[in-house]
Amino acid sequence: MTAPKSIGPSRKVFSTEDAWRIAARRLPRLIFDFIEGSAGREVSAGRNVRRFDEIMLQPRVMADVAVRSVATRLMGRTYGLPFGIAPMGMCNLSWPGADKYLAQAAKHYDVPVCLSSAASSSIEEMYRWAGENTWFQLYVGQSMEHSLSLVDRAQAAGYETLILTVDVPQVSRRVRDLRNGFQVPFSIGPRQFIDFALHPRWSLTTLINGPPSAKNFNAGNGVRFNRNGSRAGADWAFLDRLRNHWKGKLVVKGVTSADDARRIRNSGADAVYVSNHGGRQLDSAPPAIDLLPIIRSAVGPDYPLIFDSGIRSGEDVVKALALGADFVMIGRPMLFALAAEAEAGLNALFSAFAGDISTAMAQLGITTTDQITRQVLFPPPDQALTMQDSKLKMTSTST
Ligand SMILES: Cc1cc2nc3c(=O)[nH]c(=O)nc-3n(C[C@H](O)[C@H](O)[C@H](O)COP(=O)(O)O)c2cc1C
Repeated sequence: MTAPKSIGPSRKVFSTEDAWRIAARRLPRLIFDFIEGSAGREVSAGRNVRRFDEIMLQPRVMADVAVRSVATRLMGRTYGLPFGIAPMGMCNLSWPGADKYLAQAAKHYDVPVCLSSAASSSIEEMYRWAGENTWFQLYVGQSMEHSLSLVDRAQAAGYETLILTVDVPQVSRRVRDLRNGFQVPFSIGPRQFIDFALHPRWSLTTLINGPPSAKNFNAGNGVRFNRNGSRAGADWAFLDRLRNHWKGKLVVKGVTSADDARRIRNSGADAVYVSNHGGRQLDSAPPAIDLLPIIRSAVGPDYPLIFDSGIRSGEDVVKALALGADFVMIGRPMLFALAAEAEAGLNALFSAFAGDISTAMAQLGITTTDQITRQVLFPPPDQALTMQDSKLKMTSTST
């Protein structure tokens, strides 16, 4: 097998950049900015992506690579691909029915799809669509009771994996959202009205399907979704409490410090999810990919590490695996693919990423994803040290 087949043809989306460009045209500015926007001056988001461009892979020739598999093991299970869908709030803003398309793709390609606490679909309906491929992502908001009730609903619905996101003690100031007056639920003034009117396709389809809302709030117990409310309840004591409470796999997301990663591993979590939230939280945060190898050496070679932030292509996935990730999640490109061409766009993106990973493996002379190690990087780790040594020598002789 090389890569799983796509389930819907697209004549427009062949890469993340295609999806991004088409989405920018089709989405109201307010929605595009909500998805693309980041913290502060948006330095971190750009740096995440640029850093990947600087990482290089070493081609190898004449290996027997005719038969390759992109299947990947994570936390005791084999997935169809080495990447899945990161948790994102309000996905149905990208296109009506987005959550359902994400669920269908997750099932088809046999990868995880993470349902956010702030999702536009309910915990129960998402599990009906994607079954055990669905993971639930928890924010610990103003009401601890409500947060734990979400965990219990996930357990009752059949979820096996819970992600606790810990890098949003407070939602950062997103300047574009402030400028655009972005709010959930929408507040529509003249500025937003003009924006929606200029994008009739999205606006009419969204109107017909009903504007998305944070489906796991407002339900029954009357807890309203407050996007800017504190989410600082996810502290060390809560992690211990959650570990005792949740019987399934527990993943802690938003980790960029080696010390934190070690402590999370020691608290009994099943995986650490290295991420700087795609640059949406701390604008001065280092690029997440730079921290991945440091965290890998802190937690040891066998402890499961998941990674996201800045992945834009199949080759980026390979780079993250080479630098210590066991599995990778993709954020914004998924939503822009949906905004660009709905189901066909999403499947085109999956097939582009899967195809690129498989082809890159052929170029690197390997046939399985567990062969993606630091040895596929250029320069390989041993030569990198020698090169660094000789640079140091040159500097010391020249001074
Ligand atoms: C529109 C949007 C909404 C997001 N909502 C959540 C969320 O509800 N929970 C969460 O843990 N992360 C959330 N994230 C962060 C993603 O899970 C992920 O860490 C990030 O998008 C990865 O970076 P990338 O977009 O560069 O791939 C969101 C990201 C975006 C773009």
